[in-house]
Amino acid sequence: MSRNLSLKVAFVLVAAASLTSRSAPAADPPPFDLTAWTPPQLRSVGDDPFGKLVKYGHALMVNTANQIGPTAADPAKRYSGNNLTCQNCHLKAGTQPYAMPLTGVWGQFPQYRGREGEIGTLEERINGCMERSMNGRVLPLDGLEMKAFLAYTKWLSNGIPDGAKLVGAGTINIKEPDRAADLGNGAKVYADTCAVCHGKDGLGQHAATGSGYQFPPIAGPDSYNNGAGMTRVLTSAAFLRHNMPLGTTFDTPVLSDADAYDVAAYVNSLDRPAKANLENDFPIKMQKPVDAPYGPYVDDFPAEQHKYGPFGPIRAKLRELAAARK
Ligand code: HEC
Ligand code: HEC
Repeated sequence: MSRNLSLKVAFVLVAAASLTSRSAPAADPPPFDLTAWTPPQLRSVGDDPFGKLVKYGHALMVNTANQIGPTAADPAKRYSGNNLTCQNCHLKAGTQPYAMPLTGVWGQFPQYRGREGEIGTLEERINGCMERSMNGRVLPLDGLEMKAFLAYTKWLSNGIPDGAKLVGAGTINIKEPDRAADLGNGAKVYADTCAVCHGKDGLGQHAATGSGYQFPPIAGPDSYNNGAGMTRVLTSAAFLRHNMPLGTTFDTPVLSDADAYDVAAYVNSLDRPAKANLENDFPIKMQKPVDAPYGPYVDDFPAEQHKYGPFGPIRAKLRELAAARK
């Protein structure tokens, strides 16, 4: 949803820009199907300076905590605040379709971002996950780590046209139930299908050897914070239905739409770190996603309804407000 919106806004801006310089509007971007594409193989990467950076970027994706997190050898490089890895969510080192893949993302930035209310760069987007999903601090823009993430993303996007309309990007929305999420059913789904790996209280299970997790925490002090995209119930439900339990892919969903909605709400009802200054997100309140779990909002619906739905009445109200402003 938010991705489509941001792409659309970015496209309108691009089209408008090209109109001022030429008379013909920009053509529709070409589609590119990530679900029918084989991502490049790391073993094909050489030891030239760019190749080394790509390999470091891969290491950062899959071994984040030891490289730039709490267990990094150099204390100055402990940028991420929890022991998650990027690939805990961006599955298969960012190559799994509909698990927010990074394939093709190189050619999608800069793009309009509602959370910041302005055009954002790929660097800013990566730092968004650093401050929220990783509950940490931003990477310096000119540092080796940011360059490595950029090199890795560029390499993953080789052969994908810039600005392509990506099939398999982001997540697939669920068919949203016409009701508030049922936390009781969510708790039951969690106990039945998730707790075996993520633990009864969602705190995950440490790896047998070394640091880090075999099964990452989905709640508690070592998980993503309350400003992360994963705390939006519709984003979370979309990820879960098409990627969890582990091994599930977008074409073989296990959870029903309703169970994904309920278990996402249950997970997001659990305690997690709090991010400061969330009230500054989405400076243009009309662009705030209906499921942003924190205010302020442009409508009068309680925070509880933004957190757990139902979202239909909120969308209807937003349409009404938008029409009134025309
Ligand atoms: C068989 C074990 C297993 C089961 C069952 C399972 N998961 Fe996961 N889950 C994982 C692993 C492993 C990862 C990290 C994937 C990776 O790093 O490749 C993960 C990642 C996640 C993430 C993103 C990372 C994080 O820590 O927040 C969420 C959220 C999540 N799972 C929620 C769920 C929910 C909800 C269920 C039940 C519907 C579930 N999982 C069932 C193993 C499991
Ligand atoms: C807890 C899950 C989680 C973790 C861990 C995580 N991300 Fe994300 N990331 C997301 C979600 C969800 C989105 C998209 C939804 C949104 O807008 O927030 C996203 C979006 C992105 C995007 C934009 C993708 C696009 O299609 O435009 C980039 C780039 C990114 N993340 C990089 C990273 C990097 C690098 C790390 C590790 C330092 C990381 N993320 C860790 C959940 C996570």
